[in-house]
Parts: sequence; structure tokens; C-alpha cells
Amino acid sequence: MNCIIHRRAQFSASRRYWLPELDEAENQQRFGPCSRFPGHGHNYVLVVSRAGELDRYGMVQNFSGLKQIIKTEVIRQLDYTYLNDVWPEFRQTLPTTENMARVIWHRLASHLPLVQIQLFEHPELWADYRGNGMEASLTLKTHFSAAHRLALPELSYEENCEIYGKCARSHGHNYHLEVSVTGEIDSRTGMLVDLGALQGAINELVLEPLDHTFLNKDIAYFGTVVPTAENIALYIARLLTEPIRELGAELEKVKLFETPNNSCEIYCCSSSHKQEDEGI
Ligand code: NI
Repeated sequence: MNCIIHRRAQFSASRRYWLPELDEAENQQRFGPCSRFPGHGHNYVLVVSRAGELDRYGMVQNFSGLKQIIKTEVIRQLDYTYLNDVWPEFRQTLPTTENMARVIWHRLASHLPLVQIQLFEHPELWADYRGNGMEASLTLKTHFSAAHRLALPELSYEENCEIYGKCARSHGHNYHLEVSVTGEIDSRTGMLVDLGALQGAINELVLEPLDHTFLNKDIAYFGTVVPTAENIALYIARLLTEPIRELGAELEKVKLFETPNNSCEIYCCSSSHKQEDEGI
């Protein structure tokens, strides 16, 4: 039986987005405050996922062995360093979070049959890398508050209560939203998308219009579509697909938490569409 195990580790490091072939003004224009001397730091959280068969002891791999490999190959080498200088890979391609995930994969791949490297820059921004050339994913987490009522307009209040329970009454949620995009890491800047522009698109197209609204009344789309978490996620995915494509990436997934207990995911990439079309 094949099984995937995950090991988490942490390190602190600094970095600077600075390309020597560009002058001061060009670096500033391209990378904003991230270009500032002498750089800035993060407390990174790394999650290494590997697959394997269970051995006679009931393990894929002894976790302490896995911990040791990650410590030797990554943590001891990167912790309390200036990333741009520490590994030659980062002189070639800037140590963005998505590029760090890629490089860590390649450093560990000869020791472990990896499935995924996940690297958190902070709890609301992380990269996923799955060994696929220069392709990686980046996820931004954000939130908004809105009220809604789950009810079909053609049904009576009692009938809606039958279907949706208490949710047929007006009430609100603090929604947590995760937007994942996928794309090719630029071989020089290390970026798969302009993060500032992505944040700007999410703010402008999703947060600004939806935050502190009564969805059923204030958002025309939900005049006829019941604003369940699933429909809200679908709506957000539709709003973001084209603008993210214009930024040179693809919307991969929208995950919406209505409460800590209730969440849903919409997979947006062409491969998932293809599966849907094929009825898989
Ligand atoms: Ni609700």
C-alpha cells in the first residue's frame, strides 16, 4: 500500500530581490521594497511530503530519519543565512518562495521519493512544488465578511427552511479565501507571477466588491443564484480566471472557508475541466 508522509520544519533567512544587471532604479521599479539593501527576512515553514510502501514496522520511513535528512540537506544550510549567497542556485534565479520550493525539491530529490514541497513565507502566502520542471503554485490567503441567506426565490420561507434549515434566515460569515495560481517560474527573477499585481486583482475584483455586503441583495449575480459557499467560490473563480491569465499565470484553485468547519474547493485548471468534460 502506497502512503504519503509529511514532515514539517522551520528556518529563518533573509533575502533581497536584486539583479546586478539592472540599475538601482530598475531594481526598485521591478521589485519595490523587496529590492532594498540589505534585504528582509522571513520565518519559513517547510513541509516535505514523500511517498512509499509501508515496511514490516508499519512505516514509510522512520520520521527521525526523515527529519535528519531535511535538517542536514536544508535547515542547517539555510537557517540564519542570506539566501542570495548561500546556494549557487539562488545566484542564478532569485530566492522567491516558489523558487526556493523548487530548489529544495532538487536538493532533497536524490535522498527521498518526493511528492510535494510546500514552503510557507508566512501563514497567508505559500508555494507548492511537485517536481514539474519550472512549474509551481502560489497560494494567497485572505478574508472578507458578508451576509447571506440561502433561499430559492420561487419557494416559500417554510419550503426554504426545509431545504436550508436556519441558513434560510439572513446571517453572516467571516469568509476565509485561498487563491492558488500556477505558472512557470521565471529563470532569472524566480517569480511565477507578479505578487503585487495578483494581490491587487484579488483586492479589486473580490474583496472590495464582496466585503461587508449582503450578497443576495448587493451582488447582482446572487439575485438569482443562491449564495452557498460553493456558488460563492465558483463566482470568485470566474471573476479571477481571466485577470490571472492576463498576469501570465493560471488560476488553479479557489478554496473558501465559510466557517472553520465548512469549506469547499473549486479546481480551475484546464486538466480538471477536461476531466469534468469527460465526465470523470
Ligand atoms: Ni451561511
